[in-house]
Amino acid sequence: MFVIQIKVGRMENFVYLLGDPLAREGLVVDSGWEIQPILEAAESAGTRIKYVVATHGHFDHTTTLHELAEKCGAEVLIHENSSLGGGRRLRGDDQILVGEESVRVIHTPGHTEDSICLYDGKNLLTGDTLFIGGWGRTDLPGGSAEKLFASLHGSIMKLPDTTVIYPGHDYGRVTHRILGEEARSNKALLARDLKSFLRLSS
Ligand SMILES: [Fe+2]
Repeated sequence: MFVIQIKVGRMENFVYLLGDPLAREGLVVDSGWEIQPILEAAESAGTRIKYVVATHGHFDHTTTLHELAEKCGAEVLIHENSSLGGGRRLRGDDQILVGEESVRVIHTPGHTEDSICLYDGKNLLTGDTLFIGGWGRTDLPGGSAEKLFASLHGSIMKLPDTTVIYPGHDYGRVTHRILGEEARSNKALLARDLKSFLRLSS
């Protein structure tokens, strides 16, 4: 699938348009602060937006979710643990079908209870679970360092080294990176056990 990364708003948010270029159908992952750049990207790609998916419920990712979905006749998808209203609920391992392609939902709690990553078999959109050179904070309501460690090591690190990581914020020196490379320098991924990870978080 093609991936278009779009930076929006004043908190360095990245939102994404993922699509099947043949079917000209796609999904938006997070909508952030403003919908215009997303609509423009979809128009340039000649892609109809079928779904608007939230990686988690935090306002900087979801403020315009319903507005965007309404504007393009799309359906909002949110994890079942979300406290946000509206939208169809997702569970871990659900498949979201776009054209001839599919995107798998990976439930990755830790930053929040409703955090998910989206995986198309090559690209992984990590929301606030994993950043380039960093990881999601766990001190906000619903956060858990133990769960984040399990999500990073039990789910994300099980994916192929060649997986391309696309984070929910532009906090790194680069905008995306392959997992194999990230795993060699990101302290959260280098942590060998929960105890070492908790030392990083405290
Ligand atoms: Fe967040």
